Amino acid sequence: MTTIDSPPAQSHPDSEPTADASTQPARRKRMLTGDRPTGKLHLGHFVGSIENRIRLQQEYESFFIIADLHMLTTSNTRAAIDQVSANARDMVLDQLSAGIDPEHATFYLQSAIPEVSELNTLFQNLVTVPRLERVPSLKDMARAAGKDEMPYGLLGYPVLQAADILCVKGDVVPVGKDNHAHVEVTREIARRFNHLYGDVFPVPTLIESEITTLVGTDGQAKMSKSLGNSILLSDDAATVRKKVTSMYTDPNRVRADIPGTIEGNPVFVYHHAFNADRDEVADLEERYRAGRVGDVEVKTKLAAAINAFLEPMRERRAVYEAQSGLVDEIIVDGTERTRREVQTVVAEAKRAMGLTGTYNQLRRKAEQARKRRGA
Ligand code: TRP
Repeated sequence: MTTIDSPPAQSHPDSEPTADASTQPARRKRMLTGDRPTGKLHLGHFVGSIENRIRLQQEYESFFIIADLHMLTTSNTRAAIDQVSANARDMVLDQLSAGIDPEHATFYLQSAIPEVSELNTLFQNLVTVPRLERVPSLKDMARAAGKDEMPYGLLGYPVLQAADILCVKGDVVPVGKDNHAHVEVTREIARRFNHLYGDVFPVPTLIESEITTLVGTDGQAKMSKSLGNSILLSDDAATVRKKVTSMYTDPNRVRADIPGTIEGNPVFVYHHAFNADRDEVADLEERYRAGRVGDVEVKTKLAAAINAFLEPMRERRAVYEAQSGLVDEIIVDGTERTRREVQTVVAEAKRAMGLTGTYNQLRRKAEQARKRRGA
């Protein structure tokens, strides 16, 4: 039992009528997802979420957040904030290059939409502190940021994320594994809001990726820019070759004629994820297990496969890069469009909660008083 539930809202004479959902035209289901603007995207982002976004953009009306307020929960120096516009541009360009279609997708900057913060404030009373303390990713983020005490904002990270998702009434949320628990919190907040104040929000569905995390080039569990073990979507062919050449493989295999292990071996994990030539992968695996192939051949073929995978992205990137300011325009137009949507939704939420009614009553009285005075 929690202590924050109270009886469902009763209709109040001063609350404004809310539109009946059944009278509104059916709208396309919405996807909302995105990233903190911490830098360029890598192959781990691709398999963890970008790939899903590209697939889902056909089916859903798509919103992609540049979550700079979330970034502040772990990185809030002036220097970090000064990097946001460049990082946002890089991140959006990475996604456009990867195949997100700007005709269908809307990118927006979180901090430019103050109504999101307003919704965050309203949601803060729909979840308890112990519930948030059980979200495992927050402790990991605090540790990674070198903080020995949990900042208030970081504890509230999933609540702000719920505001992001629900401020456009997102129906589906494709995110990587670290974010699964956050989407669960969003679902709880949506249900609790609807229970207390009436049906305003959808209870969004998490969409998982096939590969949830990609190992780093050094064999560490996770590819991450800060660990220096990533291959960027924007890396050129020579950089990819260099990074693949120095990749970690089976440490027990000191010579090419020693049988090697495939499972968990980063070069084979990547072959599986990025090499379109399945026969080549099967052949390399067989010979690797039998001690009949050298690392050089495995890696040369891997670098070629990753480069073939990235080549169409490089071509699209060149087209965007040739038009200076285009990415900025895409972000600004998207932000303005999203803000209008969010304003409508937040107004609906405040009406459902009776907050609009509160101020309207005061306003009416104030108006009458002014009239009586003949003002
Ligand atoms: N939490 C996401 C990350 O790990 C970023 C994010 C913020 C997000 N708001 C979101 C993702 C809403 C999906 C939906 O960077």
